[in-house]
Amino acid sequence: MSILVTGGTGYIGSHTCVDFIEKGKEVIILDNLSNSKAEVVDYIEQITSVRPKFYEIDLLDRDGVKKVFDENDIDTVIHFAGLKAVGESVAKPVEYYHNNITGTLNLLFEMRDHNCFNLVFSSSATVYGKPESVPIREDFPLSTTNPYGTTKLYIERILEDLCIADDRFSVVLLRYFNPIGAHESGLIGDNPNGIPNNLMPYVTRVAKGKLPHLNVFGNDYETHDGTGVRDYIHVLDLASGHFSALKALEKRGVSVYNLGTGNGYSVLDIVNAFERVNGIRIPYQITERRKGDIAECFADASKAERELGWKATRGLDEMCASAWNFEKIH
Ligand code: WQD
Repeated sequence: MSILVTGGTGYIGSHTCVDFIEKGKEVIILDNLSNSKAEVVDYIEQITSVRPKFYEIDLLDRDGVKKVFDENDIDTVIHFAGLKAVGESVAKPVEYYHNNITGTLNLLFEMRDHNCFNLVFSSSATVYGKPESVPIREDFPLSTTNPYGTTKLYIERILEDLCIADDRFSVVLLRYFNPIGAHESGLIGDNPNGIPNNLMPYVTRVAKGKLPHLNVFGNDYETHDGTGVRDYIHVLDLASGHFSALKALEKRGVSVYNLGTGNGYSVLDIVNAFERVNGIRIPYQITERRKGDIAECFADASKAERELGWKATRGLDEMCASAWNFEKIH
């Protein structure tokens, strides 16, 4: 029996493939390469000595998705594939709803037609919107402030309705906080096309001299140093969280877990840690707040520890060192 990883050549998907292969799972990758490169499959093989089967297929291509299920014995899907740039989603809502939701519906049709009823979905802390308080628990109210986050919320609702209608399905919703860092080999990491939206890949490109300085989006938030606070989690911890989540598929219906560290760090905390760990100065300028940003967001991660036996173990220093190690190589 195989595990299909949609978006498996992407940042979190590739690290999850490595984790699963190293733990003895047979992995198949489906990806349209819209925000990743085919050589990631080579890197996964270099790291694990196993080359996963790879299909360059878009989830909007229903016949292509059917082909993957026809040709393989898939019993579980880890669903990462989707567009994920907050700012871009505000400018292109129709493309985001079509790509993320229609793609997911095509996947669900083919899963059901092929008696595959186990799904782990890559959701996001963005579904909590502007939280009433922190740390954030899974039972907090849900609201979104941009089309990207709304696609995650809508897909969560679709999966809940599916499980109500068809009790053969088991679904785990994993709400990620802010994944950063890279595999120790430096072969795979966060390598977005174009100018990075996210903080850490922007910082590593400043460190490498590809960008002149970091723009810090506002220092007038109600936080310890005025800059935005987030729950940064090492991508390897996030990957192992997906393996632990497989346990939750043993029960029918929907389970929800935050995957975070429970610690909040500000933008300047990240800059200072990066400079200290890597011995590189990161010039920055304070600029206006970014539209849609919130002051503070970090997880109460105790439910995943209690029910899945999973806890993030890697600290900020390792996140900063591994992110820089990846950038140096790429
Ligand atoms: C982090 C902090 C910025 C860039 C988003 C999505 C979330 C997930 C992770 C996909 C904030 C500040 C950033 C920069 C800065 N995405 N910042 N200068 O916005 O918390 O979360 O990415 O799965 O769903 O919502 O992450 O890395 O963009 O920002 O000052 O050049 O860094 O204001 O405080 P964010 P981020």
